[in-house]
Amino acid sequence: ARIRHYRWEVKYEFKSPDCYRKLVITINGRSPGPTILAQQGDTIVVDLKNSLLTENVAIHWHGIRQIGTPWADGTEGVTQCPILPGDTFRYKFVVDRAGTYLYHAHYGMQREAGLYGSIRVALPDGEKEPFVYDYDRSIILNDWYHRSTYEQAAGLSSVPFVWVGDPQSLLIQGKGRFNCTTPGTAAALCNATNPECSPYVFTVVPGKTYRLRIGSLTALAALSFEIEGHNMTVVETDGHYVEPFVVKNLYIYSGETYSVLVTANQDPTRNYWAVSKMVSRNNTTPNGLGIFNYYPNHLSRSPPTVPPSGPWWDDVEARVNQSLAIRSHPDYIHPVPQTSDRVIILLNTQNRINGSVKWSINNVSFTLPHTPYLISLKHNLLHTFEQTPPPDTINGYEAYDINVAPPNVNATSSNSLYRLKFNTTVDIILQNANTLNDNNSETHPWHLHGHDFWVVGYGDGKFNASEDPKTYNLVNPIMKNTVPVHPYGWTALRFVADNPGVWAFHCHIESHFYMGMGAVFEEGVEKVKKLPSSIMGCVVVIPRDFLSHRCL
Ligand code: C2O
Ligand code: CU
Repeated sequence: ARIRHYRWEVKYEFKSPDCYRKLVITINGRSPGPTILAQQGDTIVVDLKNSLLTENVAIHWHGIRQIGTPWADGTEGVTQCPILPGDTFRYKFVVDRAGTYLYHAHYGMQREAGLYGSIRVALPDGEKEPFVYDYDRSIILNDWYHRSTYEQAAGLSSVPFVWVGDPQSLLIQGKGRFNCTTPGTAAALCNATNPECSPYVFTVVPGKTYRLRIGSLTALAALSFEIEGHNMTVVETDGHYVEPFVVKNLYIYSGETYSVLVTANQDPTRNYWAVSKMVSRNNTTPNGLGIFNYYPNHLSRSPPTVPPSGPWWDDVEARVNQSLAIRSHPDYIHPVPQTSDRVIILLNTQNRINGSVKWSINNVSFTLPHTPYLISLKHNLLHTFEQTPPPDTINGYEAYDINVAPPNVNATSSNSLYRLKFNTTVDIILQNANTLNDNNSETHPWHLHGHDFWVVGYGDGKFNASEDPKTYNLVNPIMKNTVPVHPYGWTALRFVADNPGVWAFHCHIESHFYMGMGAVFEEGVEKVKKLPSSIMGCVVVIPRDFLSHRCL
């Protein structure tokens, strides 16, 4: 195993990823940032210099479990204090499993300012994947807003509430196209001929097969991705091999990764469109377009066809069917524990607190504490967050009608966390419901830090605790770290609480997490080794005698 050393400088720069100029957070001048290429077992060292002048930062390594290094998870408020302007922070961790992962900012809503990238971990020498291909490429799909994260965050916490709205464009590997003639667009800020917003080009050699690693880090959008005239065979997701299946369009939610195989087997005398389209919410966002270029055609030659228009935004059934099609590859099954020790039912609702709109889980809207949990739990600073744990099931769950807007719109907010018994098996049921608007339920991609979970079931309507577990797939469920809960449905996950640390679990939609759609799990924190002092910049150490006086 090798050590891979990176030196990154994070700063704001003017960029025009969709032809519209705005301030973007870059790494070494780029957004998306550099792709981390490593081999299973390698140690990654990233020396991160924060050159944002007035803004903190933290970077999360999404999909890397951080076994033995929970302090390197990069989650502000959970595993570390933020990195202050001017400071350099060292992230050091092992990539212990081959697969396709991501990294991104995990502080406020900073991710959507452009601080993100890919991690690609190859198998050790001599090991083979259960499929063959000629070339390997990574792309990230994203959505893009013109307003700053600050304007968005301010709107979300205002009374009356100001929603972020639909993204202005969709990006494929950091490139998109906003129509500069859109009414109200400042001409000086939008330049349709800027080369930064030329379409993303994927060049292929006729007859060759490509492993395309696709990740989504959208702020809001659920996406469908397709390559005109080509099928895609899904072979991997979130670092696990799937029983291969073929799709024309791939549905992908924020925080998920997929590897698909695409063979360049169509008429080689022309180019084809690659299209990403926002689904699951009725929207005004134009489709993202890239060019699937057959060598030696000119790369910028537009395909002779109209780009495919993609699936209907509201075709929930097609999306649920893709979720159901994802199973473990038969030769790579991680046996799932057949029973669990604890069942936590998380009812996802939209509520109000003092007039502002929030998301809550079992009527508790999550807020981050100032002192990161990992530090407060390890150092016994228990006064730094609320000690009453959130409920495993909401009172009155049996009677709750998920098909109507919440009858009791008021929720409470809390920064308390779930404490899991070390090495126990935990079931999480994510239960979706109607939002504050009639006849509306959204799709939420939930992401768990520090673990992979088995996706043991999906269902429509309200989860029935005595019947539905009988339908679980306990034979060949896929393991993942991010999973959707579909409108008016439920999703059941199972995981083993065997990674000492404190781990965030949240909706990967940036504005939803900001509005409280999250939870935190602690397990085995007493087994965590001495914390590096570099994560503790925000911790106020109160002298012992002062504390004891106060407590008396
Ligand atoms: Cu990719 Cu907690 O996020
Ligand atoms: Cu959500």
